Amino acid sequence: AVIVAHMYQNDDVQAVADMVGDSYALSKYCTNRPENTIVFCGVDFMAESAKILSPEKTVLIPVANAGCAMADMITAEQLIEFKKQYPGYAVAMYINSSAAVKAESDVIVTSSNALKVIRGMEEKNIIFGPDRNLGSFIAKQCPEKNIVLWNGFCPTHHLIKRDDVIKIKETYPKAELLVHPECSPEVTELADYAGSTKGIIDYAAASECEEFIIGTEVGVMYQLKKNNPDKKFYIMSEELICPNMKKTTLESIVSCLEKGEHEISVPQDVAEKAKKALNRMLELGK
Ligand code: 13P
Ligand code: SF4
Repeated sequence: AVIVAHMYQNDDVQAVADMVGDSYALSKYCTNRPENTIVFCGVDFMAESAKILSPEKTVLIPVANAGCAMADMITAEQLIEFKKQYPGYAVAMYINSSAAVKAESDVIVTSSNALKVIRGMEEKNIIFGPDRNLGSFIAKQCPEKNIVLWNGFCPTHHLIKRDDVIKIKETYPKAELLVHPECSPEVTELADYAGSTKGIIDYAAASECEEFIIGTEVGVMYQLKKNNPDKKFYIMSEELICPNMKKTTLESIVSCLEKGEHEISVPQDVAEKAKKALNRMLELGK
């Protein structure tokens, strides 16, 4: 088996994984592996995406019920009803969504490729879901598109408030502020950089600055500190924890490997439709 882990996983889980990455990097990596089994240390929608892209493989998730609160904010039925209000609109869906929602979408995006994918779409009128924050971050940069937003958000990233950002910037005046675009717009506009987890890690490594305030889930601190031992990182708040990401433990990985536990399955008709939208992302996001 190959073990992959999202950057929000516990430090010890990241340490044993064959590959650690953001949602986009992990979904691409899994398609190119020779192993027949993928152990996906992350949340449900990530493991589901790996299964949809590699249906011939066995995809296991170490813990059952590791969902994403934002993905749960939209169902396929709700999306079908919403589309009726906007005839002719294309649906661009954040990868943080269920397989059934992806199956009702035209293209999938991740935080690292959303701008490129949306700019590359021939359609001007677009429904974007479920994250209103990533959606408005992209819409601001694509004035040529007419983007309608679904009203979802990430409860973890929403913990970051503008006043707290202003305070911490006063405490560390030399630090650059790096945030995930799932943060609210009033936070993102104060940032020196807003991007995916991998984008944040790459930015910190390339920057000449020596101190950074980090506005995303605490899990990224592990890679940031490991890759940049001479730089200083301050997390916006120790409460920036995604509870479902933290459910995976080393014990759950061992149990999953020994017993083949928690196999991901996606109904074939749903998987086929969702795969079209995911493949369009891989094509436009190249
Ligand atoms: P990335 O696309 O940066 O991996 O983020 C996924 C996610 O769930 C952030 O909350
Ligand atoms: Fe979902 Fe937020 Fe957790 Fe990311 S951090 S997996 S968006 S709940």
